[in-house]
Amino acid sequence: MFYEPGKTDHGLSKNPFNSLIIPRPIGWISSVDKAGIVNLAPYSFFNAVSYRPPIVMFSGSRGNSSPDDTHKDSQRNIEETGEFVCNLTTWDTRDAMNATASAVGKDVDELALAGLTAEASQCVSAPRVAEAPVHLECKYIKTTELPGETPSDVYCVVFGQVVGIHIKDEFITKDGQVDVGKMRPIARLGYQDYAVVNSDTIFTMQRPE
Ligand SMILES: Cc1cc2nc3c(=O)[nH]c(=O)nc-3n(C[C@H](O)[C@H](O)[C@H](O)COP(=O)(O)O)c2cc1C
Repeated sequence: MFYEPGKTDHGLSKNPFNSLIIPRPIGWISSVDKAGIVNLAPYSFFNAVSYRPPIVMFSGSRGNSSPDDTHKDSQRNIEETGEFVCNLTTWDTRDAMNATASAVGKDVDELALAGLTAEASQCVSAPRVAEAPVHLECKYIKTTELPGETPSDVYCVVFGQVVGIHIKDEFITKDGQVDVGKMRPIARLGYQDYAVVNSDTIFTMQRPE
């Protein structure tokens, strides 16, 4: 099959785009607003985009705090305070991660709502999710607004520089590597589907010279 997004119909029961860029890492973004109210939400339009310095990004659609909300609370908080944390989502925190995607008001602390523990960060005001094995403390760089087919399709990409990295010691091997199989990170597929990385699904290949 072939279709041209925005021009011709795919003819499928659901837009397949999200099911084609897979698996997507999930950035579990914690932030605070100026008043100090904590916000936590998952973003699968999320990735690392540079190595030195390490830079990450996530992309948010319109907000869902109210019907006329134009931006996500995460984006608004980060633009206000200039700081955020990316927490790694794992098999063990999958239900809590999902709970933090609830469309609740800006004054609701989703971290507490999901029964998670807030832990102070070292370099930024936003707290970390204590239950996550990895935390990336980030300083806001900029927001880039992407063109949408309609005003409600507009996405804003938020970039941040990683200024502090926490890895729980129990997830570092004797050889000094991150034990990904032990962490069991989860990733987003399309529809309502997810994938989990276990030690038996990891394989190794040497890159050609
Ligand atoms: C696994 C998962 C991934 C998500 N990825 C995104 C995303 O990339 N962009 C987005 O706008 N919303 C995404 N959402 C929805 C947001 O998490 C949801 O709208 C949330 O309420 C936004 O919270 P905030 O306004 O507090 O930032 C995702 C939800 C889930 C469960």
